[in-house]
Amino acid sequence: MTHRILVTNADRTIDCAEQSTILAAAVDAGIDFPYGCASGNCGLCMCKLVKGQVQLLPYGDGALGPAQERRGMTLACRAMPRSDLEVSWLANPDFD
Ligand code: FES
Repeated sequence: MTHRILVTNADRTIDCAEQSTILAAAVDAGIDFPYGCASGNCGLCMCKLVKGQVQLLPYGDGALGPAQERRGMTLACRAMPRSDLEVSWLANPDFD
């Protein structure tokens, strides 16, 4: 199954398979999504999950803390879509 992801920073909507991550789909689509390790350890791909549900692959405690998760943050390199999504990476000046 494929879901649609609106990446607000890039003003692009992309397709993402359920077994793919947000980051992989964004990079494949040519979006310059910020990331570092791509393995759940650095936190550079952190983004606000504005809408939708994701399932997270395992990640390091230092990359995403419980308080950040409660505020709606997720890791693009670990998050696989379980619905259509809207995400915004932290470099967005409009980010709350
Ligand atoms: S790119 Fe390092 S945690 Fe996602």
